[in-house]
Amino acid sequence: MQQPVYENIEATFSPQNLKDEIVKGLENSQACISPKFLYDKLGSHLFTAITYLPEYYPTVTEREIFLKFKEEIALSMGSNHCLIDLGAGNCQKAESIFDAIKPSTYVAVDFSIEYLQEVLPKLQGKYPEIKMMGVGMDFSNHLSLPTSIPNIQRNFFYPGSSIGNFSQTQAGHLLDQIKSSSDQGGLLLGVDLMKEDAVLLNAYDDPLKLTAAFNLNILRVVNTLINSNFNVKDFRHTITINHPMQRVELYLEALRDVTVSWANGTRSFKAGELIHTENSHKYSVTSIQALLKASGFSRFKTWTDSKDYFALIYAQ
Ligand code: TRP
Repeated sequence: MQQPVYENIEATFSPQNLKDEIVKGLENSQACISPKFLYDKLGSHLFTAITYLPEYYPTVTEREIFLKFKEEIALSMGSNHCLIDLGAGNCQKAESIFDAIKPSTYVAVDFSIEYLQEVLPKLQGKYPEIKMMGVGMDFSNHLSLPTSIPNIQRNFFYPGSSIGNFSQTQAGHLLDQIKSSSDQGGLLLGVDLMKEDAVLLNAYDDPLKLTAAFNLNILRVVNTLINSNFNVKDFRHTITINHPMQRVELYLEALRDVTVSWANGTRSFKAGELIHTENSHKYSVTSIQALLKASGFSRFKTWTDSKDYFALIYAQ
């Protein structure tokens, strides 16, 4: 039987680079930890659990849009194409669209290659007709696809509004690179739309506290990577909605004065001090299309749900 092929693009995230990046963030006057560290094995499973929460509307809404418009979406994406899934995680989203869009090759790209190695063999078993590749890559800095990816129509898949986790400048940079690697293909993009505060608050600070667990787990990941001594009990998950910037901001707040140490450094946090972990920008259909246009995309098909919570855009 056909086996998935793996490639790890190490260059951008050697263990030393990752450590340096974490330490730099912790030493910043506004301490921060990059959201990519949320997704270790446990973090990835916790995020999957979040996507089952009724409060976390992006996943269900995106799914609803897809199911409603799948024929149109499949037609736009063409046939005999290669689906390149950016931030594939458990590959469930891609799997849910395989039957409709029928890719001949599937390339799962994720920061965590270990997770892909766990998930892809099972997926390959279910879809023996699709050629599968797993690529371990931190595309948040640079998108460098292995040359072994077949040169057929390349359709990038970037669902879940992960684009919202970048600043506009970073998002523009990623979209530039997607545009120049997609040739005759395109990009199927999921985008979260701006909406009333109450909906956002429940989605990003859910009553079961799964989001809190997911966010706090980043401290354990950091402890493992830089050998620091964060105590999860010293922090709590908190969010703010920044209206001028059109985004939800996610933080960990120190519950008391604490000092955290690692090999060659320390950082003290006053009670109430925040560590920034992620921004989740919300767009309008017009503002996201403007961003796509700036990267050279010129043709758009846009589908939304009945509440206008979320949009799926196929851009070429
Ligand atoms: N990319 C997801 C989002 O912005 C990630 C996410 C959901 C998240 N809940 C979170 C990240 C809580 C940090 C903390 O919707």
